[in-house]
Amino acid sequence: MSIFDKLFEEAKAARETAYAPYSNFKVGSAILTESGEVVRGCNVENAAFPEGVCAEAGAISAMHLAGQTRIKEVVVVADAALCTPCGGCRQKLSEFAGNDVKVHVADLNGLRKTFTVGELLPAGFQLHDDK
Ligand code: THU
Repeated sequence: MSIFDKLFEEAKAARETAYAPYSNFKVGSAILTESGEVVRGCNVENAAFPEGVCAEAGAISAMHLAGQTRIKEVVVVADAALCTPCGGCRQKLSEFAGNDVKVHVADLNGLRKTFTVGELLPAGFQLHDDK
């Protein structure tokens, strides 16, 4: 099984656990860390809409819970739409990933498109120029 296939299956399973009663748009995400662990996240919405959390943000929290801080590869899965990470999640991902890290966007049937973090967030803000 390729890295993409593994992350795709994990993200799809994570998507099943999403809480999205307001948008009805479930999203799952899986992150491969630099040390080889896979963590995942799902979107969790809230009646106060801005308080919802995206799948990528959940996966980043899970990464930290697992004691990991660097991202090697990411898969995001949603139904049908090309679910590119929102602006906030692009910034969150770039905090823990180099510009060359791949972000694969998939639907339930498989890969739709692959981007790099640098493509998703050109000229992104970094407090420390250490990338
Ligand atoms: N959402 C994500 O979780 N990740 C993305 O990459 C884009 C959008 C969520 C936020 C909200 O719960 C729902 O999808 C509809 O916007």
